[in-house]
Amino acid sequence: MTNPDKHKLSSLSFNTLAVHGGNEMDKTSGAVRTPIVMANSYALPYDPSTMDWSDTEEPSYTRNSGHNQICLQRKLAAMEGGEDAAVFATGVAALHAVFFTFLKSGDHVIVGDVTYEAVWRLFSELLPQRYNIEATFVDMGDMDAVRAAVRPNTKLIHTETIANPTTKVADIATLADIAKSSGALLSVDSTFTPPPFFRPLELGADLVAHSLTKYINGHGDAMGGVVIGSKKLIHHIKADALVDLGGTISPFNAWLITRGSVTLPLRLRQHFSSAQAVANYLDSEKRLAFVTYPGLPSHDQHRLAERQFGGKGYGAMIAFAVDGGPEVQNRFVSNLKIITSAVSLGHDESLIVHVGGGGRGGAERYPLDFQKYGHLRLSIGLEDPEDIIADVRQALDLTFA
Ligand SMILES: Cc1ncc(COP(=O)(O)O)c(C=O)c1O
Repeated sequence: MTNPDKHKLSSLSFNTLAVHGGNEMDKTSGAVRTPIVMANSYALPYDPSTMDWSDTEEPSYTRNSGHNQICLQRKLAAMEGGEDAAVFATGVAALHAVFFTFLKSGDHVIVGDVTYEAVWRLFSELLPQRYNIEATFVDMGDMDAVRAAVRPNTKLIHTETIANPTTKVADIATLADIAKSSGALLSVDSTFTPPPFFRPLELGADLVAHSLTKYINGHGDAMGGVVIGSKKLIHHIKADALVDLGGTISPFNAWLITRGSVTLPLRLRQHFSSAQAVANYLDSEKRLAFVTYPGLPSHDQHRLAERQFGGKGYGAMIAFAVDGGPEVQNRFVSNLKIITSAVSLGHDESLIVHVGGGGRGGAERYPLDFQKYGHLRLSIGLEDPEDIIADVRQALDLTFA
């Protein structure tokens, strides 16, 4: 973009924003890509003694703010349709920043009963024990259960759009209504459903968080996290959880993620259409114990997912188990040739993890099939779906040979 000042980022269509957002011609060198600025510190004004040392707008010290962080924040805020964004070193740092900023001792939180492992431990153990924050874990597929869990001191409802790893889908518009009428904030971890696919702020969420490590960067080579929302809420997060806790993303990672996100809309289309094709195949495979994917009619919230995501897709995360015990799951994974056994998700390459029955919170919080067989979490990458299907088929053939 030769003259970015002429364009307000939020006025650009999504594909154009993904290409040009966060990138500016460098005035010093004339380079057409924003350079990586690795400096810890920025030049001070003539009289710095009157400065606000907690300022996060004008860069002075890279823990608070820096050129590449600002570029990424502007881009992500525009992509999610929010006023502002705060970027962090990891997705967990971003989520913790929300909890640290908006909760205090004696407050109550409603959290999805199946949620990312670190969030589970924060609310089942660390925050209650150390800071006297109460949490109720609720089935986010059951809005009556959420309503029933609200207390006078409920300050936050936190959910994932599609839960990791069970793929349970949360009804964000209804949760936003419940949060509003209870005087609580709704924060949504939308890591499995990045924009333009889904934008929870449009349905009334107050804050949206992502692990940038996943789809938004998309190449498996950088960690990052973001929280997006109104200027006011993001200002609190920056002032409390960025400036005084740290957890700042490195300029290099901010630059990598800005670059990775250029192809986000193209990648998501491929991820989601391939995931549907792979899920359809898995659903027809007699050698599996179960398959869970919101795009399958057998999924409990298939209708909700269809309505909420407007038929644009159902994400690219599939949970399933091969018919057999833990050793059979391990044998199957070791027989895969294209799909890589590794944690993380949303990368260019397909990734699989044999998570087992439980995870940190124990098996009880998972559906019965997960408890009985354990489960494999499959992140569908950008390979040809026919190759992914062929890889699964040949691994099953070897496993049951
Ligand atoms: C849904 C979800 N939220 C948050 C995180 C944490 O992100 P990070 O690993 O970047 O800290 C993950 C990581 O897998 C995740 O799947």
